[in-house]
Amino acid sequence: MKTYKELYTAVETQISSLSFTGNPQNLYDPIGYMLSLGGKRLRPVLCLMANDMFGGEAQHAMPAALAVEVFHNFTLVHDDIMDNAPIRRGKPTVHEKWNQTIAILSGDLMMIKAIDLLVSTQKTDVGKLIQIFNKAAAEVCEGQQLDMNFENLNEVQVQQYLDMITLKTAVLLGASLKLGATIAGATDDDAEKLYLFGKHIGVAFQIQDDLLDAFGEGDKVGKKIGGDIAANKKTLLWIEALRLADASDKDALNSCIGMTNEKEKINKVIDLYKKLGVLEVCEQLKKKQLQLAFAYLDAISVGSEKKQVLKNSAIELMERMS
Ligand code: IPE
Ligand code: IPE
Ligand code: MG
Ligand code: MG
Ligand code: MG
Repeated sequence: MKTYKELYTAVETQISSLSFTGNPQNLYDPIGYMLSLGGKRLRPVLCLMANDMFGGEAQHAMPAALAVEVFHNFTLVHDDIMDNAPIRRGKPTVHEKWNQTIAILSGDLMMIKAIDLLVSTQKTDVGKLIQIFNKAAAEVCEGQQLDMNFENLNEVQVQQYLDMITLKTAVLLGASLKLGATIAGATDDDAEKLYLFGKHIGVAFQIQDDLLDAFGEGDKVGKKIGGDIAANKKTLLWIEALRLADASDKDALNSCIGMTNEKEKINKVIDLYKKLGVLEVCEQLKKKQLQLAFAYLDAISVGSEKKQVLKNSAIELMERMS
């Protein structure tokens, strides 16, 4: 089985050979810019890993792998407008470097280019691939809108949060795996189990993302630390903090919502997170999702030695620092 590193390198090579040019140039430039900034390439690697697991050839699944990465990058460009984020992957976001209109339209174009890549898949029922892809893509929009709606809600329950991150983040990891498996000719049953594996890994992945937003190292994360707090995001940290807080800490947390000094606001909320021990609760929830994911992986009808790469990658992702 191929390792994460090998598949990452294969993806990187293909991405650098993609070229998005056209008129007007300032509509196309941000696409190359975003894709050249790197990132973990997690979704395409998962697509190729799934394909490899069922005996597929990497080159056969590559267009779908590139499609999910281009789509993911589109969601980041729009997400950064919505979240008012200045930095991504250690560099200025597209709406900062160019402007919002360009970020909106370049993003739209990336979505279209992603579909172009997906339909270029050979020897596969492309209709089936589009169905898998579009279901996840529509759900990402639903999740993103819920994430925005929650900014203005005082009370968000853990289950509402889990449903929201399943949509905005987890389903795309599931779909990336399912696409790779489907292209390799896996049965629908196995492809579905792999999808569910990815979905639970994705939930844990977003919980880790929330943790990094508050507790990560800026240089490694490549994003502005405390961005979620500034935007009043209802992250797992926030929800659990409110649940664990006594009346006075609850008041302290809620009073942070309206604070205008952003730096003070971020520091105060992080101090309360530390005091209330929310990190531990988040770690437990991550572990639970990982176990749920592994149950689906175990049930797939291929030898356990073929599952090891996915298993190890999932474990490493739980502790990711970027
Ligand atoms: C960031 O995704 C958005 C989330 C869903 C948390 P990644 O953490 O995969 O970002 P890159 O592609 O590695 O930069
Ligand atoms: C983003 O969640 C999910 C999508 C991009 C669909 P976040 O808003 O937490 O992602 P980051 O932290 O900006 O990467
Ligand atoms: Mg967001
Ligand atoms: Mg964001
Ligand atoms: Mg985040």
